[in-house]
Amino acid sequence: MSTPNTSQPVIQLRELTKTYQTGEVKVKAVRGVTLNIERGEFVAIMGASGSGKSTLMNTLGCLDQPTGGDYLLDGVAVAGLNRKELAKLRNKKLGFVFQGFNLLSRTTALENVELPMFYTHPLVSLRERRERAVAALQRVNLGDRLAHHPSQLSGGQQQRIAIARALVNRPELVLADEPTGNLDTRTSIEIMGLFQELNNAGITLVMVTHELDIAAYCKRIVVMRDGLVISDTRYKNRRSAVAEIALLDQAEQKAQLA
Ligand SMILES: Nc1ncnc2c1ncn2[C@@H]1O[C@H](COP(=O)(O)OP(=O)(O)O)[C@@H](O)[C@H]1O
Ligand SMILES: [Mg+2]
Repeated sequence: MSTPNTSQPVIQLRELTKTYQTGEVKVKAVRGVTLNIERGEFVAIMGASGSGKSTLMNTLGCLDQPTGGDYLLDGVAVAGLNRKELAKLRNKKLGFVFQGFNLLSRTTALENVELPMFYTHPLVSLRERRERAVAALQRVNLGDRLAHHPSQLSGGQQQRIAIARALVNRPELVLADEPTGNLDTRTSIEIMGLFQELNNAGITLVMVTHELDIAAYCKRIVVMRDGLVISDTRYKNRRSAVAEIALLDQAEQKAQLA
């Protein structure tokens, strides 16, 4: 495995474009985005529905090739790569978290987290894969739910399994598209707390959200409109999930006493 070059940004986009062609109709979903994301950042991508957020994320995630411009992931030009090379890069460098969790339902938490290593580390022993999956689940505080199936767990717990799965290959970058979209307020803050903890430990995160309340936990907010970045702001006093949860606890205790 090549060691990451820590002096350069994890993501470098230069005039990136993505045009979809459906029959006669062309949709310019991303129209020229120039952006660097450094190691250790925690970026929220915001914008109205249809502004190109998911298209940008799919391109960052090497799920789709751009139609123009340059994308360097950890210094590697993505444009020249074929499908197989893209998949390899994706497995090695990236972890994904989705709104709908995307877990296999007839499979335990542990097996869900082991699965990515089956493809990326086929030569690693079964035992080592198991140990790494257990460690990832412990990291998201689910060490006591290894044998549970997704249906036996809450939405927040299911999302934490998905986060453990995203972490198990030790990615350079975690991409999350509306990770709290299916969760209630408190659970959303708990998930943001987990992301803040992972980010404090050095993991780079890029997350799509349409909720300002959720973006407030990130260090930087990039806003898109009509396929372009219209603002890019760094926050010094972002919200702390730990502090917000403590406030919620206090309010609940007061309500119980009243
Ligand atoms: N696979 C696709 N084929 C054709 N058009 C698409 C496709 N995916 C997205 N689009 C179009 O591209 C634009 C941006 O979509 P999207 O990136 O999903 O925005 P967002 O995630 O911000 O809601 C929209 O006009 C959408 O209809
Ligand atoms: Mg979207």
